[in-house]
Amino acid sequence: ELGRFEHYMRKEIHEQPNTVRDALRGRLRLAEASAQFGGLNLTARQLRRVRRVVFAACGTSWHAALLGEHYIEKLAHLPAEVEYASEFRYRNAPLDDQTLFFVLSQSGETADTLGALREARRRGFPTLAIVNTVGSTIAREADGGVYLHAGPEIGVASTKAFTSQLVVLALLALHLGRLRHLSYDEGRRLIAALEELPDQIERVLAIEPQVEEAAHRMVQATSALYLGRDLNFPIALEGALKLKEISYLHAEGYPTAEMKHGPIALIDPATPSVFVAPRGGLHAKTLGNIEEVRARKGPVLAVGTQGDDQLARLVDQMLPIPEAHPLTQPILACVPLQLLAYHVARLKGCDIDKPRNLAKSVTVE
Ligand code: BG6
Repeated sequence: ELGRFEHYMRKEIHEQPNTVRDALRGRLRLAEASAQFGGLNLTARQLRRVRRVVFAACGTSWHAALLGEHYIEKLAHLPAEVEYASEFRYRNAPLDDQTLFFVLSQSGETADTLGALREARRRGFPTLAIVNTVGSTIAREADGGVYLHAGPEIGVASTKAFTSQLVVLALLALHLGRLRHLSYDEGRRLIAALEELPDQIERVLAIEPQVEEAAHRMVQATSALYLGRDLNFPIALEGALKLKEISYLHAEGYPTAEMKHGPIALIDPATPSVFVAPRGGLHAKTLGNIEEVRARKGPVLAVGTQGDDQLARLVDQMLPIPEAHPLTQPILACVPLQLLAYHVARLKGCDIDKPRNLAKSVTVE
């Protein structure tokens, strides 16, 4: 089943052009520049009444929800919040009948997430789930939802489920946006960008040899910082989590500009920083932040837009991703970071598909 891949994680990273295609399949409504879902079980009228969206999830799914928050805010202009499922359940978080409540889970079996879902149901609110595993407990207990259709994910570190979650969240936000004030043209632009993703991911996968070179620069470190701003902040968090999970190298994700308020104290020649820095809003400020790290002799890797020579000159190595729509760019930016974690772990001889102390789905609280 592994074919030419040594590990499931690498196989699943390479499946992403197809899994993204599968997440989009049948869900685009070109004539209306919108999206459609078979199992949401909510009418357009009900969705127009929504005033707020709340997501609850754990781990990588929680990071996907953080991007979902951006998508909902940017496309639907609705306030959105992201909760750790394990916290939500015990904190009496306010919900009301104009709140759309989602849980996200690859496995559909995570006890903390299931607990959050049951708590919302107990309080009488309809629950929606974004789940990969068909027929899982969360999928069965939710009132409606969306499947990722990413196929079984075997590697403990989640990869293809994450990018599919992002695609589904973008589609949901598009749908909610088009029921409000998002223009037809903006909707069409996003759809075109989503349809380009499989080919663009293919191009990112082709830089794997460069990522391997970057992994050699990281492997001696004991700690690393991952920095990104706006939509790339959740990508920085996810990049850091991947590295921690499978290479046991300590890593922290921070919003780029927050670095100077504390983490900059960690910078030294042995502590690499990984900037998620594709071109776009606030790029000049990010370049300034990179210079601050350089001035303290910190090694710097960056995920940047292909052809961004200014960035490339400033860093030890740039991993290029194609130019893309601002909302799909983060989906591309996470792929080199998945590969980076994989190759650091491989160089360290770690058990990549079965990292120590982790389970694919944690069914205890
Ligand atoms: C963790 C896994 O315990 O559960 C993570 O180790 C995962 O990789 C998290 O992201 C949430 O899992 P799920 O299946 O609910 O998305």
